[in-house]
Amino acid sequence: MAGPGQRSKEGTMTEGTPPRRSVPVIGLLAGAVLVASIGGLGWWQFARTAASPMDSTDPRVLALGGRVYQRECASCHGAQLEGQPDWQTRLPNGRLPAPPHDPSGHTWHHPAEQLFGIVKDGVQAYAPPGYESDMPAYAGRLSDAEIWAVLAFIKSTWPADTRGHHDEIDRRNRRR
Ligand code: HEC
Repeated sequence: MAGPGQRSKEGTMTEGTPPRRSVPVIGLLAGAVLVASIGGLGWWQFARTAASPMDSTDPRVLALGGRVYQRECASCHGAQLEGQPDWQTRLPNGRLPAPPHDPSGHTWHHPAEQLFGIVKDGVQAYAPPGYESDMPAYAGRLSDAEIWAVLAFIKSTWPADTRGHHDEIDRRNRRR
């Protein structure tokens, strides 16, 4: 075993001076890191601006979402997404009525990820401990794809300016 600074049998330095071979390797590595970071930056930019699954314009997804909505949500949120009457006033039991999903409600104030979480896990996941709500959690009842489809259906009913506001809320949420 040649010690530091000793010559090996071939007469080259084994330590101290880096073997020549490593220079292109380092160059390659640096190149790879550069490419990866540019790629990563590109991906990050893309992720910031890319549409969420809630922005689907696929007619099959929207049709599925419409069916899921009428079957699972319309009884409370209304067949026309109008919500329950007097939805801003608490019920005698202290709970809130179902809000509209049309632009007069506040569904569009929430980023897509949060809406998905509310439908999948219930509003309790976003409320103080002990919060009581009539909004069911759909985990185990609807697949993730069905939840995104129903959210895409809801968004597809909004006029362009409401969709635009929601896009902006989504972008801000992703930047955090
Ligand atoms: C049994 C009645 C009921 C059904 C069925 C129901 N919801 Fe709700 N939902 C509510 C109530 C009540 C609230 C208000 C919850 C609260 O703040 O306490 C709510 C709130 C929500 C919110 C939050 C809205 C906001 O602006 O904060 C979303 C999103 C939502 N529901 C989506 C759905 C979807 C999608 C379905 C069908 C898959 C559905 N709900 C089915 C009663 C219901």
